[in-house]
Amino acid sequence: MSRSLSRRDILKGLGAAGLTPLLSKVGVALDPPTPFGATLRVAHLTDIHVMFERNAEAGIRSTFAHLRALPEQPDLVLFGGDMLHRGMSVSLEEMNKMASLFRTILKDECPYEKAFAIGNHDIWGWFKGMSKASGDEALYGKRFAMDLFGMEKPYRSFDRGSWHFVILDSVHEAGPTAYRGFLDDAQFEWLEGDLAANKAKPTLVLTHIPVLQACVLIADANPVETGTHLNPHSLVTNNFRVCDLFSRNPQVKVVLSGHIHFVEDLRMPGPAHICSGAVSGTWWQTPQAAAARPRREGEPAVPRPLRSTAGYQMLELEADGSFTTRYVESGWKGVA
Ligand SMILES: [Fe+2]
Repeated sequence: MSRSLSRRDILKGLGAAGLTPLLSKVGVALDPPTPFGATLRVAHLTDIHVMFERNAEAGIRSTFAHLRALPEQPDLVLFGGDMLHRGMSVSLEEMNKMASLFRTILKDECPYEKAFAIGNHDIWGWFKGMSKASGDEALYGKRFAMDLFGMEKPYRSFDRGSWHFVILDSVHEAGPTAYRGFLDDAQFEWLEGDLAANKAKPTLVLTHIPVLQACVLIADANPVETGTHLNPHSLVTNNFRVCDLFSRNPQVKVVLSGHIHFVEDLRMPGPAHICSGAVSGTWWQTPQAAAARPRREGEPAVPRPLRSTAGYQMLELEADGSFTTRYVESGWKGVA
């Protein structure tokens, strides 16, 4: 699958051939030239939710086709977690079927450099009563996701262009049928050291569960059940500590998240906290259909907000640490 040529690709090729001034003179529409590599284009695709219902495969392939048709092509695709669906509750056989389809789709549709964060739906078997996992399996828990995404550790960092990228592992066990957003001590100490060692580089942090987000105040609203509008699986629960660390590292410019399927761009002192909606929209349903369903079968429907429409985030990262970002709707509608 070949990429269409970006402005930068064109400039690079023309520059190598010494042709840029000539073409500029004959009126080819080009932006003011920027040095190759000065702008890093990143696509953030989160919450894909591979499933065999609701025409999901066609929706995923359609989204990649949409991405490949953009005039400005990404240098890097960040996958923000929940690439699979209901991993904690399903059998290993079901997990392998979803992983196989995801691998095939990536091979067919995604010719870009990729990096992955683990989402709660990518973790196999934690809800043992439903998954029938013993916990001793080689691919139990996060090891399934790490194997699928080619990760040696569930968190890591790397550099591209002028930028430093940090991928966090934000999902942690909280009992036999629960998880929560959290950064454990070992990961926090690693993060502290990693940021200290990369002070001079503008930094983007990728996390599945948001560190900070406002829509969580209504996203999982179920006061009948919990007496609260805020659930511990909706945010990184020790976010005060994480935000304090970010405030001591002003090179951290962007914190990208997914998880709750809202588009949000939260600006305040410190990094922008951006939630990138979901490739699946509302789990491959229309937002209206999802909002009308009860959270669990047999329960009364609790008023729920409409989630964001299906899409993905495009970011342009500049060498000076500035950036622009926009949510690109893929046009996929979901089932009613
Ligand atoms: Fe999700």
